[in-house]
Amino acid sequence: MSAKIALYPGDGIGPEVTAEAVACLEALDARHRIGFSFEEATIGGAAIDATGGKTALPEQATRLGETADGALLGAVGGPKWDDPKASVRPEQALLGIRKHLELFANLRPVKTVESMLGASTLKPEVVRGVDILVIRELTGGIYFGKPSERRQGPKGREAVDTMLYDESEVRRVVEVAFDLARQRRKKVTSVDKANVLSTSRLWREVATEVAARNRDVAYEDLLVDAMAMHLIRRPKDFDVIVTENLFGDILTDEAAMLPGSMGLLPSASLGPRRSRRKATDGVEREVVFGLYEPIHGSAPDIAGKGIANPLAAILSAAMMLRFSLGEPAAAADLERAVDAALARGLRTADLAAPGEKAVSTKEMGEAVRAALR
Ligand code: IPM
Ligand code: MG
Repeated sequence: MSAKIALYPGDGIGPEVTAEAVACLEALDARHRIGFSFEEATIGGAAIDATGGKTALPEQATRLGETADGALLGAVGGPKWDDPKASVRPEQALLGIRKHLELFANLRPVKTVESMLGASTLKPEVVRGVDILVIRELTGGIYFGKPSERRQGPKGREAVDTMLYDESEVRRVVEVAFDLARQRRKKVTSVDKANVLSTSRLWREVATEVAARNRDVAYEDLLVDAMAMHLIRRPKDFDVIVTENLFGDILTDEAAMLPGSMGLLPSASLGPRRSRRKATDGVEREVVFGLYEPIHGSAPDIAGKGIANPLAAILSAAMMLRFSLGEPAAAADLERAVDAALARGLRTADLAAPGEKAVSTKEMGEAVRAALR
């Protein structure tokens, strides 16, 4: 068995949390013998520095992704490269790699943890038991439509961005939503702004067609403004939510606040490259290439201090085991080990209650590895 993993540690706390995820995979390998090999590439601000300002996404990084079985990303960005007018910016690495590897389906699971309900700004009875999977379209819409530019207009400076979707882009991501809902509570909520936008009317039309072919899964559509409200009013009612790129960007930040801490939330960005893979349990499963990253950012204020929470990165690695390596047993082991570390009462600074003792990044990673052994 072997699995080639691309590592993009990036900036800020990215390298610290990625290192813990890698150490957990290595510890897991002692039992599961998946045979990991890791190869690293520099992206984001680190790449801007390394290339003398030329690019945030060197070619080596995209090439590495093309040949890997899965990829782990830390985070990119920081105050050093923050000038929004700069022509080369760390975020270009994220957008570039998503587009280059066609990672069109961004999965952002949001699950509240009983022992941490107090961390949410919402009432415990509202967030208890929330288990949502948001699927955000990631390679289309207003993020990539052309024209997108600043220019001189008749009344002075003007700017334009373009929201464009074709039906195949909508269909493939909505199909992912139905496939995954079938393995969960069998409900899909599609979010759009069909009362105003043409792209949303197409989105709804195509989503309804996909729903008609998947009648075993319940389907509803909601306008995005209403969704923003229902998400904090009755979050337990949602199972799988699927939406276009910009709406998904906004709604996933909102959804991330349901559990109270971003430090526990992983994500997966899946592409079209599918294959069959024989797992260590002897079962052959369909797998899909994906890039996995914690949804928290580079947190420059705590970078280098060794206090960041590595659990979102570790849970991202678990998602990789499940979706890209076809190793559900290893994924479940890793998730259980994270639960065990939390159940022992270990808390990194972001999770600790006022006055409670916080453990370091390494101590938390080590607690997960101890639970694996
Ligand atoms: C995200 C981020 C990115 C996005 C930024 C950093 C470009 O907000 O992954 O949600 O808007 O997609
Ligand atoms: Mg965002």
